Amino acid sequence: MRQALIAGNWKMHGDSQQIHQLLGELKPAVADAEADIAVIPPAVYIPLCDELLKGSNVVFGAQNVSEQREQGAFTGELAASMLKDCGCTYVLVGHSERRALYGENDALVAGKVAAALAAELKPILCVGESRAQREANETLEVVGQQVDVVLSTLADGHDQLTIAYEPVWAIGTGLTASPEQAQEVHAFIRSKLAAHSQALAEKVRILYGGSVKAANAKELFSQPDIDGGLVGGASLDAAEFAAICHSIG
Ligand code: 13P
Repeated sequence: MRQALIAGNWKMHGDSQQIHQLLGELKPAVADAEADIAVIPPAVYIPLCDELLKGSNVVFGAQNVSEQREQGAFTGELAASMLKDCGCTYVLVGHSERRALYGENDALVAGKVAAALAAELKPILCVGESRAQREANETLEVVGQQVDVVLSTLADGHDQLTIAYEPVWAIGTGLTASPEQAQEVHAFIRSKLAAHSQALAEKVRILYGGSVKAANAKELFSQPDIDGGLVGGASLDAAEFAAICHSIG
């Protein structure tokens, strides 16, 4: 059985005061949750999250990481070793906003996953199709390519990877993939993992993301290949995010 994971991607939201309030409400509300829980703040608030989450069952991560493994002249970049040093457990890699707005391609994303794993950070690889690609029946081809590029560069035994299926058309739109639509893609991703190694398929968690809220979480999470959620907007509301965290065991 895979341990469930609920991760809240705050994107570029929040300030110190809001984070004090959000985590102050969230920690007691999820103290008895069975799932693993993570928050993914803007990088400058990682030390604040470290301080505020000490002694709780909530861990934290970063939204992006450099593909460069060694320190050097890479202005504006953050090395995986630095994020690890600051206490991060997870790092998002290849979020659709980074692919679409900052030109991240599959090769760069694969380099970032490899850099994260080398630093013993747990990468959450984000994949997903656009609305046009879904309408053109290209969903499995697009997602398959995004997953294969990373798997082909993975050394054996890298089961610390998590994959998040986030259909781009469902992100921040209020549209959610139906549980059946999501399950179809999750099962397909699991088959890709199995082609690489059966052990990887059994261990790697596949999260669903895209307008997850308390009202739809339980049904999505009841699907056999959905191991949790990557939550955007709803993770900025402590009560709503806590309810999502309690929707899976
Ligand atoms: P929303 O939950 O706001 O749709 O965002 C999903 C997402 O992009 C999480 O990474």
